[in-house]
Amino acid sequence: MSKTIGILTSGGDCAGLNAVMRAVVFRAALLGWRVIGIENGTAGLLEDPYRVRALSPADFDGFVMRRGGTILGTTNSRNPFKYEMDDGRVLDRSEEAIAALKALGIEALIGIGGDGSFDILSRLAQKGGVAMIGVPKTIDNDVALTDASVGFDTAVGIATEALDRLQPTAASHDRAMILEVMGRDAGHIALNAGIAGGADVILIPEIPYTLDGIARKIKRVKDEGRNFALVIVSEAAKTPDGDKRQVVYHGGEKRYGGIGEYLGPKIAEATGFETRVTVLGHVQRGGNPTHNDRLLAQALGIKAVDLIEAGDFGKMVGWQGGQAVAVPIEDAIKECRVVKQDSFLVHTARSLGISFGD
Ligand code: F6P
Repeated sequence: MSKTIGILTSGGDCAGLNAVMRAVVFRAALLGWRVIGIENGTAGLLEDPYRVRALSPADFDGFVMRRGGTILGTTNSRNPFKYEMDDGRVLDRSEEAIAALKALGIEALIGIGGDGSFDILSRLAQKGGVAMIGVPKTIDNDVALTDASVGFDTAVGIATEALDRLQPTAASHDRAMILEVMGRDAGHIALNAGIAGGADVILIPEIPYTLDGIARKIKRVKDEGRNFALVIVSEAAKTPDGDKRQVVYHGGEKRYGGIGEYLGPKIAEATGFETRVTVLGHVQRGGNPTHNDRLLAQALGIKAVDLIEAGDFGKMVGWQGGQAVAVPIEDAIKECRVVKQDSFLVHTARSLGISFGD
């Protein structure tokens, strides 16, 4: 009987997840491992019957790798250690998940996730004595010890395209356009798309701003004869008073959102520009992965299987200096990789005259 790898996607989806899976399945087939896909993160292990399916190269026709989302489904809320039951009880179901992995004969688990998922999956693996490898994915690009996570490049491309689309309408109507983008506590999407998309102001959670700072830059743009301005703001940028803007969804779940609408009238008042706000939202997570995301996904997927073949577990595969590397998973989840104020991209933006509102 061949050896068995389990694979799951966990946390918020992004473009490139199917490309990771394809690489894992192709590489595993060459090395004689079989692959079982677990649906909806670890939640698929907690259903009766288990929500799992065998994955073989034939499951990855020409189209799957090109598609956003995840063919296995995912969840960013069903933590097996604190599982919310339909009747409202919160139970530790980790033993059940471990028993399922064992019943399925899974010798090594590949978790495609972000830092939150890695924390849960590595605790589960340690508790159950199961071998585990993490593959970083997140549009937020906030996983430590990797230069890039799967899905980020696609999200930056979408945010850049949004600025490309906002610029002509801004110029046609003499407006300041504000684009609110995702990223959780890290400003990487706003910083990268802001530079690539020619923003005048980039607001990120890592650099406190003032309304005066924003207005100074926009007025300068106006004085120079330009009739429009582009502002890109990360969802987690706080108000100048230090308040987080959040949306409370049905059931009480909170997510960042609303900083764009907060800033719109204030920028209008301070600059005289009519303003409009676009919230890009989950559009950033969909669409076909860019070629960079497909390359990263496949390089990391291959590396994950090679680590399993070598018996080198408890690692996250990362991308450093153009190479796939293995780093201890506990080091990767120690801290959130936020934008460093002295990074070369912040320097690039400032050198272009882009303001951070500071
Ligand atoms: O972590 C990915 C992400 O898209 C964040 O950028 C965003 O804050 C959050 O997930 C949105 O979560 P949900 O899909 O639950 O609305």
